[in-house]
Amino acid sequence: MEQVFASVVFNRHLTGDYWLLEAEAPALAASLLPGQFVNVRIEGSAAPYLRRPFSVYRVSRDRRRLQIAYKVMGEGTGLMTSSIRENGRCDLIGPLGHGFSLPANAKRIAVVGRGIGIAALPTLADEAASRGIEVHAFLSARTRPNLVALDIFAEYAFPVVTHTDEARANALVTDALAALAQKVRFDAFYVCGSNRLARAVHALAQKQNVPAEIAMEQHMACGFGDCHGCVIAVNLRPSRGEKAFKEVCHYGPVFQTWEVVDASA
Ligand SMILES: Cc1cc2nc3c(=O)[nH]c(=O)nc-3n(C[C@H](O)[C@H](O)[C@H](O)COP(=O)(O)OP(=O)(O)OC[C@H]3O[C@@H](n4cnc5c(N)ncnc54)[C@H](O)[C@@H]3O)c2cc1C
Ligand code: FES
Repeated sequence: MEQVFASVVFNRHLTGDYWLLEAEAPALAASLLPGQFVNVRIEGSAAPYLRRPFSVYRVSRDRRRLQIAYKVMGEGTGLMTSSIRENGRCDLIGPLGHGFSLPANAKRIAVVGRGIGIAALPTLADEAASRGIEVHAFLSARTRPNLVALDIFAEYAFPVVTHTDEARANALVTDALAALAQKVRFDAFYVCGSNRLARAVHALAQKQNVPAEIAMEQHMACGFGDCHGCVIAVNLRPSRGEKAFKEVCHYGPVFQTWEVVDASA
């Protein structure tokens, strides 16, 4: 983990509610693993005191640049759209947290993302593709323009199932995954951005007896385990009801789904 002042290549509107920031940070980009995140300092007199955490959306092929796809949510992300400018600098700390793991010898995986959560998946798809693993994507959002990363999955010609609330409010994108999983074998599941989808993926993974991982989001301050501001309840041994509190930034953001699904109940 290090603090870097990255050169901003661009920071522009991506699609729907999302913006895309690309910055040159070779040492950071070279060491990032899928699912890890960076903590961004927002500059300016009106800027919030705390950094804001973001998954790394993409790392360039030469591993010199990284991208963040961010949704404008409030004070910090609103300011990011105007204060981070082309040819300027961006103060980042990273790589942070523990990312996704791909089982050895995996042949086919399914990734399930909703809304902002989709932004954690392209680096995993890149890594899987480099190992010859087939990735089936199941992406969900409120509206069609908020389905980010479709172009990235299309680059690899990976199959993508999409769902929007405006088209089918009551269905879940995991319904399509459950149907497909009866016909083909998946070696692992990955889910981000929705508790409902996480529960559905976890149930499916248990039924199929395959591992499932989830990238958790939590309000954060330091981002590296010092302030204990991002703890969540985690199952230690679900059969005995044993639980603990763990920092998402340090032990996560990626957890096994059994560790977190229904842990706070
Ligand atoms: C590990 C991690 C990775 C993330 N990756 C991405 C990403 O790739 N792209 C992206 O757009 N966002 C991502 N987020 C969420 C992002 O950090 C928040 O949206 C951002 O911090 C909001 O800052 P703000 O100042 O604009 O909002 P604020 O003004 O602080 O809050 C606005 C609203 O957003 C809610 N909010 C703020 N932070 C979070 C959070 N961490 N989780 C849930 N709700 C929150 C607040 O409760 C409030 O309702 C990630 C969060 C974590 C923990
Ligand atoms: S944000 Fe400080 S411990 Fe996680």
